[in-house]
Amino acid sequence: MKILVIGSGGREHALAWSLYNNGANTILVSPGNPGTAEFAQNISGDPVEIAVKESVDLVVVGPENPLVNGIAGLYAEKGIPCFGPSAECARLEGSKWFAKEIMAAARVPTATGKVFTSPAPAIDYMGQYPDKFVIKADGLAAGKGVFLPGTRKESDVIIDDLFRGSLGDAGTSVVIEQRLIGREVSVLAVCNGTDAVILPPSRDHKRIYDGDMGPNTGGMGAICPPPDVPFDFGDDVRERVILPVLKVLKERGMEFRGVLYAGLIITEFGYFVLEFNVRFGDPETQAVLPMVESDLAALFFAAAKGEELPPVEVRDGASACIILASGGYPGSYSKGYEITGIEEVDSLVFHAGTAREDGSLVTAGGRVLGVTASGEDIDEALEKAYLDADRIEFEGKYMRRDIGRTV
Ligand code: GLY
Repeated sequence: MKILVIGSGGREHALAWSLYNNGANTILVSPGNPGTAEFAQNISGDPVEIAVKESVDLVVVGPENPLVNGIAGLYAEKGIPCFGPSAECARLEGSKWFAKEIMAAARVPTATGKVFTSPAPAIDYMGQYPDKFVIKADGLAAGKGVFLPGTRKESDVIIDDLFRGSLGDAGTSVVIEQRLIGREVSVLAVCNGTDAVILPPSRDHKRIYDGDMGPNTGGMGAICPPPDVPFDFGDDVRERVILPVLKVLKERGMEFRGVLYAGLIITEFGYFVLEFNVRFGDPETQAVLPMVESDLAALFFAAAKGEELPPVEVRDGASACIILASGGYPGSYSKGYEITGIEEVDSLVFHAGTAREDGSLVTAGGRVLGVTASGEDIDEALEKAYLDADRIEFEGKYMRRDIGRTV
């Protein structure tokens, strides 16, 4: 199959790598990165025009923004199968409150919450206990829209900033929900509108510092599967979360064809959905896909066409992805530092923020590389991944040292 992958980060590198290595597929990536250029053709330009001109058999959309903005509909008009949901379905990520409404209709376990369009009722709702609540911008906020206030003073500032437009239109509505305590798990479900195949569960580590301290990032590392998650967890999530959501969407005239990512938390009272995303997780994908042995092209194609989904073969053992970031990230950081040592490692190295300058590979983003290794268990995978993460060098390189050790 000739497949166009849309995007330029580590997630898209992992998708393109898996589609290339586990099947007889030709891969184009738009715009791609120096890592995808090693085995695929990187192309810049309008993603719909590229798909038409190159007569691709399938488009796989990486990031959420084009999906929320309706790219799947543009491909549908051209008759090109697109693995990625319609704009209507993508509201599951594009509006936190829409997701809550769908979850309520589907009887999916989730925190109780309320939506607000002005500050005073939102502040009243939390009363004197803001530390028992989570504040979320309703719209897309590039991972910056979730707040855990500690005090009333903090929550007042957060609410005020959101309604003053600190996150633009994303904060015109604000969802406030009960804060849940537990272990987080990500489940990725490949959906064809009515049915779903579940990929092995994983866990991201979102904070910048060890011990889950400091500001949120795009994700500093991931493991697959988390050893504390029950063996049949994915099947249970399929039955209790994914299929009921697909059913409710379909009853409302929407068929979700793409990846539905359920961000879950396992508490002492059972598990709950924290959020839905409508695309693969980053960096979860870089840990999950190396565990998959099947040709994902057949699965994605069937899902995009609304056809029966083939089963997924998953290897034994575990994998771990360690993110190497630029010093200063997620705040300001410098770019353009030469990266050395990649050719000396055995692990998979997925490019997230790199560029080629005069033939050298240099840093070009906050998250620079994802180093993924597999092993018989998570300890072995982590040992190998850290060994190789230490062999790669660039000025200011930063990584968390406790991936897989916190929940
Ligand atoms: N790893 C979190 C996300 O992809 O949204």
